[in-house]
Amino acid sequence: MIAGDSKESLTLCKLIIMKAYNWGILGTGNIAHKFARALMLLDNGHLYAVGSRDAQKAAAFASEFGFTKHYGSYEEMLSDPGVEVVYISSPHSHHLEHTLLALRNGKHVLCEKPMSLNAPEVTVMADEARKQELFLMEALWPPFQPSYVKADEILKSGKLGKLLHMRGKFAFVSPYEPERRTYDLKLGGGSLLDIGIYPIMDILRYMGEPESVIASSVLAPTGADESTSVIFRFSDGRMAEAYSSFGNMGGVSTEFNFENGNLNLTRGRDRSQHLLIEYPNDVDDRIFTPPAQGYQYEAVEVMNCLDRGLTESRVVPLSFSIMLARTLDAVREKTGIKYPGRDR
Ligand SMILES: NC(=O)c1ccc[n+]([C@@H]2O[C@H](COP(=O)([O-])OP(=O)(O)OC[C@H]3O[C@@H](n4cnc5c(N)ncnc54)[C@H](OP(=O)(O)O)[C@@H]3O)[C@@H](O)[C@H]2O)c1
Repeated sequence: MIAGDSKESLTLCKLIIMKAYNWGILGTGNIAHKFARALMLLDNGHLYAVGSRDAQKAAAFASEFGFTKHYGSYEEMLSDPGVEVVYISSPHSHHLEHTLLALRNGKHVLCEKPMSLNAPEVTVMADEARKQELFLMEALWPPFQPSYVKADEILKSGKLGKLLHMRGKFAFVSPYEPERRTYDLKLGGGSLLDIGIYPIMDILRYMGEPESVIASSVLAPTGADESTSVIFRFSDGRMAEAYSSFGNMGGVSTEFNFENGNLNLTRGRDRSQHLLIEYPNDVDDRIFTPPAQGYQYEAVEVMNCLDRGLTESRVVPLSFSIMLARTLDAVREKTGIKYPGRDR
């Protein structure tokens, strides 16, 4: 077993970055806390401002992490000329509104996943970023993790031969409570958009856009999907499967099957990342334990892109977010997951 040296990667990232940026965080929920903690690791990611619907929450968040400014409304934070790049951490249902608001206030944006509830909305967001000539990226953080960077390297090396099949799952127990974000359709609740997006992202990144989809969901009484199972078929005859659930402790893993071996990416309960590569006559087994759960790497990508004057990431471009949203729409069409007022 080899321990992957994530500290080394982080140091390298720091060396590559040229300029410091003033970040604004929109929303003060669960993931905003984790992202702020990760940003604190980066010398050039300045914790500048936080905006909340509640001034007291904004003040408490600012004092917990040492933000320079705090605002009791998103609009006020976004009109602060000091804010350069905004992390949108509101529920899925509000990503469209908040991203457009940030872009129209001249801010670069890193928007939490899923970018929005459907592909037409994601297209509107991408079009606005292009019109404003500002950076926009969906916060799909796994591809920036040391484990994925290593997996990409192995795939590109061709050592395992052609990739023939993939299977990914993301499952944990989130007990049914109708008012929870994860079960509330008004907030975009459901396992597919919340966690199923990750194995589907993996499949699309490595196999492209599927030609057809077979899918089935178990819906909770609110109409949000508790579990969703998907089979993708590609134009060259390859297939892949994705599964998401709030109903069991199945964990997080993606399995890649090649002509000459296999590759497995697994996330541990402690958020460590396990990469297992089975070559014809050898096994390479690595564990990566990035600090702050690894959320800093997506912030590094944003700042690297800004340094280079890019308005899109080459790793997670807007065309990928649109393809992902289109695929999620195709799955929802098969399984009957609908977001009232947002689906045609
Ligand atoms: N990358 C990851 O690993 C990861 C993990 C978890 C979640 N996420 C994504 O992050 C987003 C937020 O998830 P979360 O778990 O952080 O949710 P959360 O704990 O409920 O926080 C969401 C925050 O959004 C703000 N908000 C704005 N409008 C809201 C509304 N109408 N109802 C509720 N909150 C509203 C609130 O902040 P204020 O009250 O301060 O305004 C709230 O604290 C989701 O899109 C989710 O998919 C990503």
